[in-house]
Amino acid sequence: MSRVSETVAIETVAIVGSGAMGRGIAESCLRGGVSVILHDANPVALEAASTTIAAALQRAVAKEQLSAAAATTAHARLITSTSLEGIAGADLVIEAVPERLDLKLEVLQSIEAVVSAATVIASNTSSIPITRLSVPFADPSRFLGLHFFNPASKMPLVEVISTLETAVGVRDTLDRFVRDRLGKTPLLVTDRPGFVVNALLIPFLLSAARMLDSGYASAEAIDEGMRLGCGHPMGPLRLSDLVGLDVICEAADALYGETKDAAVIVPNNLRRLLERGHLGQKSGRGFYSYA
Ligand SMILES: NC(=O)c1ccc[n+]([C@@H]2O[C@H](COP(=O)([O-])OP(=O)(O)OC[C@H]3O[C@@H](n4cnc5c(N)ncnc54)[C@H](O)[C@@H]3O)[C@@H](O)[C@H]2O)c1
Repeated sequence: MSRVSETVAIETVAIVGSGAMGRGIAESCLRGGVSVILHDANPVALEAASTTIAAALQRAVAKEQLSAAAATTAHARLITSTSLEGIAGADLVIEAVPERLDLKLEVLQSIEAVVSAATVIASNTSSIPITRLSVPFADPSRFLGLHFFNPASKMPLVEVISTLETAVGVRDTLDRFVRDRLGKTPLLVTDRPGFVVNALLIPFLLSAARMLDSGYASAEAIDEGMRLGCGHPMGPLRLSDLVGLDVICEAADALYGETKDAAVIVPNNLRRLLERGHLGQKSGRGFYSYA
């Protein structure tokens, strides 16, 4: 039986890990009128996140998406904390630390130890089964997956992943929170490898890389084929560069570990690019070069 009330109101969200995802999730919450406590073990990362969020709010003002007053109010709702104890008052904690099972288990246990019995706890993992992360919880009924997409401040979908232990009231609370406060679309899914989106996307991106590797077609032809033939806004190789080849390989290896499906074996060309530090757009080179 969950100790979390079925009608818990989420007014304060703590985010643990202020990297690419944590800062985007924080911005979404602030723009949704929610107070945010952003925590990171690294003070430099936390400072950078705070600066990035302030700049993003100012950009929204410049684009007339937000009034100057609303941006000031949103920014005033942000508190940063280098100490985990600082998150104690949150109604919801979203864990967004790097994708390592041992680290996530340790961080989630520490989170459960500092928050109240009524706090809902979520993980933004892309590929670790939520059930595996739930094992050390004293109260696993309060825990679930909340999978945002990158960039989290812009992408309109959030997968809400329940385990067999997650209380229905907890899932419903987050379903409403994502829809009503964040203005995003929640997708309620079960705890399967890759959930829904990555289970479909990763094999697709890998098969485009495999097609290139085997000399089937050029990168430009593959991308143009999917753009003009299927109406995709971006071809799979350019999308891979945008997502990050390291992120794709990490997700593919995790999916392979769970499924042993040959469709998620990383092809040689992708592995070699990664070994040379070519991570896509962020490193200046991937399947394409970015001057
Ligand atoms: N980047 C993506 O495209 C993407 C998309 C969806 C989900 N995710 C998932 O989101 C999570 C975070 O990914 P990211 O890309 O933001 O990573 P990141 O490396 O950009 O950020 C992680 C942050 O966590 C901090 N951190 C590390 N250990 C910590 C600890 N013990 N306590 C507090 N903070 C700690 C780091 O200092 C860093 O700032 C991962 O689980 C990832 O799989 C990533």
